[in-house]
Amino acid sequence: MQNIIELQNITVFQQRNKIFDNFSLTLERGQNTVILGPNGAGKTTLLKLLNRELYIVANENSSIKIFGKDHWNVQELRAHLGVVSHHLQSNYSNSALGLYVVLSGFYASDGIWQHQSFDNEHLELAYQTMKLLDIEGLQSRQFSTMSTGEQRKFLLARALVHNPEVLVLDEPTSGLDLRTCFQYLEIIQDLISMGKNVILVTHHIHEIPPEINRVILLKECKVVNDGDKAKILTSKTLSSLFDRPIKIVEENGYYQALPG
Ligand SMILES: Nc1ncnc2c1ncn2[C@@H]1O[C@H](COP(=O)(O)OP(=O)(O)OP(=O)(O)O)[C@@H](O)[C@H]1O
Ligand SMILES: [Mg+2]
Repeated sequence: MQNIIELQNITVFQQRNKIFDNFSLTLERGQNTVILGPNGAGKTTLLKLLNRELYIVANENSSIKIFGKDHWNVQELRAHLGVVSHHLQSNYSNSALGLYVVLSGFYASDGIWQHQSFDNEHLELAYQTMKLLDIEGLQSRQFSTMSTGEQRKFLLARALVHNPEVLVLDEPTSGLDLRTCFQYLEIIQDLISMGKNVILVTHHIHEIPPEINRVILLKECKVVNDGDKAKILTSKTLSSLFDRPIKIVEENGYYQALPG
């Protein structure tokens, strides 16, 4: 089975800032992973490498393989991925109607363009996905007029409509009320039980579904801890990650962070 992504000794710049230097990490298929770390730790940058929004510096000792391949047509790669992020939500075309937001998932685009065509099968899949998320009543509303949670559900529908193997979720529940947030998590749990792989970035420890088994801790763009959730998600490691006392409590597979 190929790995989702395999990074060997990579260097990455964003504009003039060197973000990753000699960085290596592998995310395997069959594993559901959460990436935790302080603001600016490199979490979003890592996900952007997977989505080919960013490239590594070419170097003979460095390599990046995504689903086992060095080179990808971006459009083909994105058919394997379903991405939901803040960045996507703030950049999404405001005038798009709900249905078109979902349909844009077939092209991984942030709007619908003239050269894109949709047949009845696309429409049927879009309706099914909206129904799954209970948002079909909003399909004719403009994206800009939806609440944060409604927009987020449309972006999740967009990420799911083409049935990707891997869901890449960068702070997917930020700004959602508790009900919407837990509904969202239930959907993610269902998707994991259907065999999808999830890569989640979050600041909310209580939103890590019990099905997520691997925890990667990033700090200053380096991996400081990586392994099974029960081993990594402890008061000691989290206090060290955030440079302040933090107490981690666990109940029924869910974790919570409290001031230590
Ligand atoms: N477009 C950019 N140009 C220059 N530097 C950038 C750019 N985007 C991110 N960075 C820098 O890269 C580093 C990692 O940023 P990244 O967005 O990956 O952090 P993050 O872990 O996702 O943080 P957060 O929890 O705040 O979302 C930070 O130092 C940030 O300032
Ligand atoms: Mg981020």
